[in-house]
Amino acid sequence: MTVPFELVARGKVREVYAVDDDRLLLVASDRISAYDAVLPTPVPDKGRVLTALSVWWFEQLGPVLAEHGAEHHLLAAGDALLAEGVPAELTGRSMLVRRLEMLPVECVARGYLSGSGTQEYQRSGAIVDVPLPAGLVEGSRLPEPVFTPSTKAEVGEHDEAIPFAGVVDAVGADRAEALRSLTLALYRRGAEIAEQAGIVLADTKFEFGILPSPAGAGPLVLGDEVLTPDSSRFWPAITWSPGAPQPSFDKQYVRDWLTTSGLDRVAPAPELPEAVVAATRDRYVKAYEQLTGQHWT
Ligand SMILES: Nc1ncnc2c1ncn2[C@@H]1O[C@H](COP(=O)(O)OP(=O)(O)OP(=O)(O)O)[C@@H](O)[C@H]1O
Ligand SMILES: [Mg+2]
Repeated sequence: MTVPFELVARGKVREVYAVDDDRLLLVASDRISAYDAVLPTPVPDKGRVLTALSVWWFEQLGPVLAEHGAEHHLLAAGDALLAEGVPAELTGRSMLVRRLEMLPVECVARGYLSGSGTQEYQRSGAIVDVPLPAGLVEGSRLPEPVFTPSTKAEVGEHDEAIPFAGVVDAVGADRAEALRSLTLALYRRGAEIAEQAGIVLADTKFEFGILPSPAGAGPLVLGDEVLTPDSSRFWPAITWSPGAPQPSFDKQYVRDWLTTSGLDRVAPAPELPEAVVAATRDRYVKAYEQLTGQHWT
């Protein structure tokens, strides 16, 4: 498929095209990554689900962003992209966005303990510099949501959790405070909306940028994808039961399949069997349908 724009970056999941100096086209593929490696088997519809869900969330989160003097990067999606010259086959998986200078931190919010958070906690009783009460287990709800930022790793590197001081070093004290409070506010609102849909938003990662400007003092702009099964842990509320890994609507299912097959962190990353692909697709579609209340077509 020819896209009439210059390819400026290729992430694990997205192709990024420059539409002009101020705008990018983010095209979400059906690629799936696990343990920081892209698997060779695509998951049908995944790119369209991630895009549709992000677009839906940008709208839901508008009021929270406005309260914090922040904005989001989405300009257009869907059929509106035809007028920009985006091929019809790609409109469903594409977002036209404002071109940002991305800030070099991943803004992680956790309301529940899981995954690498649990491992950190078991080692130190904290997640980096964020202390947590004793007695928590995998899947526990935290007394308050916490901000546990990480580095934005280069290709092939693993993201690494950093203390708040690391965010201050990267973006300055004022902006670090703003990132923390906005991340937690977005998480709280997202978790509240998800809860109404019977879904636990256990944790998530946001990426923010700023508009390039000589003054450099513009508002924070929420970029990338938002509150998708690739950037978040979604658990069915009905089966939530701390003490063990939770059933999920995200790619934890694929990570678990890799682990139980003894294929996690092997190179090259292995093909997924058809049944695992189908079950993964079901989870992504289910997350979309249950959150938005809309039927997937
Ligand atoms: N508005 C924006 N302006 C500039 N860059 C953006 C904007 N929104 C997102 N990006 C960047 O575009 C890229 C999207 O590609 P993708 O999601 O595949 O990246 P990735 O981070 O390598 O993959 P993964 O999400 O699996 O870690 C990311 O590097 C993201 O930071
Ligand atoms: Mg990404």
